[in-house]
Amino acid sequence: MRDFYPEDMVWRNRVFDAFRAAGAAAGFEPYDACVVESYELLARKAGEEVGEQIYHFLDKSDRHLALRAEMTPTLARMVAQRQKELSFPLKWTTIAQCFRYERMTKGRKREHYQWNVDIIGEESILAEAEVIGAAVDALRRMGLSTCDFKVHVSSRRFLGELLASSGIPADRHAQVFLALDKRGKMPDAEIAAMLKDGGLSDGEVEATFRIMETKDFAGCAELVELFSLAELAGFADALQFDISVIRGLSYYTGIVFECFDTAGEFRAIFGGGRYDNLLTTIGGEPATAVGLGFGDVVVTELLKTRLGEDAARVKKGIAVGFMFPEQRDAAVKLAAQLRAAGECVNLSLRAQKPKKFFSHADQGGAAKAVFIGPDDVEKGVARMKNLETRIEDELCLS
Ligand code: HAM
Repeated sequence: MRDFYPEDMVWRNRVFDAFRAAGAAAGFEPYDACVVESYELLARKAGEEVGEQIYHFLDKSDRHLALRAEMTPTLARMVAQRQKELSFPLKWTTIAQCFRYERMTKGRKREHYQWNVDIIGEESILAEAEVIGAAVDALRRMGLSTCDFKVHVSSRRFLGELLASSGIPADRHAQVFLALDKRGKMPDAEIAAMLKDGGLSDGEVEATFRIMETKDFAGCAELVELFSLAELAGFADALQFDISVIRGLSYYTGIVFECFDTAGEFRAIFGGGRYDNLLTTIGGEPATAVGLGFGDVVVTELLKTRLGEDAARVKKGIAVGFMFPEQRDAAVKLAAQLRAAGECVNLSLRAQKPKKFFSHADQGGAAKAVFIGPDDVEKGVARMKNLETRIEDELCLS
């Protein structure tokens, strides 16, 4: 699991601030829930990786509980619980701590925070556009541009139609999707073997691989609409059709998408899609939904490489110090006055030599510093130094 030292929190806050600002800017309402769920709600279909990665345990009353691996089942549970009272479409957002017992690799940890944005109860593709648009906005707020990342989009419905037209029946598609999602992670020969185990003939396996070469999405009305909405909303340059995007979770039914860095260095930055049946699966009334999960791990690694390790640290606040114990009271009073005026003040806890104080203030990320010596108290005036410009202002000590 992860420890966040202050230098890590600076990055986490920068990323979370962008998540919250982008969610609010697009009109998503925040919600939250406990990280512990019933195992039954989270337990998933065979073949789904995330089902095998759930941390679960029995509590003292023998209830089978689990730490959530993702927020989507919890969201579906919360909506189903109040489905009659809520007015749809809902636009909800959260930053959820998630746990997955997976192999630790670059960008994948056993604990991560995942920003979720979901729209429930809206069939139109504008829902996809709003959700993806919010995620693109978050990336831009963090300081990245569409040169750094691309959102790869496809449609399971479209892929299903292509498979059906090659004679592969709909009841095989779920298995085909799970096998195809492994492409790039395992050799094609193994994927072919998985497809054959799923009941596909040699000819059908061959046809499936041929379909994966599809470059043209003109035959898919929902993708055409998504691209035209993205054009209007100003993020078409972030989108790219990619038939190989399948998604490892079996609840997706329509458009699916995954965001990657353009250099191809990292794992997925975010992923999501439309899921039409999850609410009924957990006992709710039918409701269509679309959403995404955007983890904090990959994007932070990407930001560090693109903007520099120290880029998140902004100089702010005022450091207040004093030379001898006799000036402590004046420093305490000044700090209180500055704080009352709305400033963030880091007051030294003990007397210091000026050199040490100023180097500490600089390393600690202060924008300005006031150092009070015996002369200052005598004159009743101290100087506040801007640590970047070196310009000094006078302050009254009273
Ligand atoms: P997911 O693709 O499993 O989808 O995860 C979404 C994102 O969470 C990934 O793209 C990645 O940024 C982050 N993530 C996942 N696992 C890890 C990990 N072990 N370490 C670090 N980051 C990770 C879902 O979870 C869906 N529930 C998303 C969704 C919401 N679909 C509809 N609404």
